[in-house]
Amino acid sequence: MTYKVGFIGGGNMASALIGGLLARGWSPDRLWVADPELDTLERHRSLAVHTTESNARLVASVDVVVLAVKPQMMAEVLPPLADMVRSHQPLLLSVAAGISTSLLRQWSAAEQLIRAMPNTPALVQCGASAYYAAPGTDDTSLLRVQEILSAVGLALPVESEEQIDAVTALSGSGPAYFFFLMEAMQLAALKLGLNEQTARALTLQTAAGAAQIALRAEENVTELRRRVTSPGGTTAAAISVFEKAQWQRTVEEAMQAAYLRSQSLGNEGGNR
Ligand SMILES: NC(=O)c1ccc[n+]([C@@H]2O[C@H](COP(=O)([O-])OP(=O)(O)OC[C@H]3O[C@@H](n4cnc5c(N)ncnc54)[C@H](OP(=O)(O)O)[C@@H]3O)[C@@H](O)[C@H]2O)c1
Repeated sequence: MTYKVGFIGGGNMASALIGGLLARGWSPDRLWVADPELDTLERHRSLAVHTTESNARLVASVDVVVLAVKPQMMAEVLPPLADMVRSHQPLLLSVAAGISTSLLRQWSAAEQLIRAMPNTPALVQCGASAYYAAPGTDDTSLLRVQEILSAVGLALPVESEEQIDAVTALSGSGPAYFFFLMEAMQLAALKLGLNEQTARALTLQTAAGAAQIALRAEENVTELRRRVTSPGGTTAAAISVFEKAQWQRTVEEAMQAAYLRSQSLGNEGGNR
């Protein structure tokens, strides 16, 4: 069955998903956006997507409602929609960081409910998302969410809601870790005498090239690293400095901190 998808909140994440779905050949007639901002609605209308200022009208018009407002808006947005959700029973897909499925269900009365954690590369269709289905969610809902999220990159299910915090620490915050490394490499290259433009271009292309090799290779990344680290060579000299500085332990501690922060934000229920 051809199902319809509506987005409550027409910002960055909604635009990324809509762009991905249209690029996959979805008819704009299957897509709806609700947002209070008229300029935002106009932007979506220019893609021939249905628009409305009314969240309730959107819920009544679609089969899948993507909750794409900021986490702190969720407690305000959902309760007024609960009656409509109860009578119409759409699948709710939340992409909001840190809001648990139990809170989402309490606020919305949704039976079919999935919580996803996408990341910012979704904006360039290179996202990495994971999703968790609340108890009672059926296979049709899972297939639909898999289809929607994979329009902007990789989408994987996780078995427990706690794992969403681990996903947040990995792929959610992960783009910033790579930016951080790229920033450090660029600064170090300047100190080694390269100009800014060359340092930037070579850093970015090296990051993209390494990711492409790792994505295509059958070997794991440990093996790929070994292969480009000849004993006594330049890479080995650099890697031994990373090892002395206990690089792996630093990464582990950093991700542990992100994980704990994600848990505590979840406990605050989006009130931040
Ligand atoms: N961006 C990412 O890469 C990313 C990654 C992971 C998760 N997420 C999650 O995705 C969600 C959306 O993030 P975003 O970056 O797309 O935010 P955003 O660009 O600020 O989009 C949110 C949109 O919701 C609109 N809105 C506010 N109140 C509303 C209401 N009562 N009813 C309907 N729409 C309303 C906002 O309008 P105004 O501008 O007028 O307020 C805005 O257009 C967040 O919960 C975030 O945690 C985003």
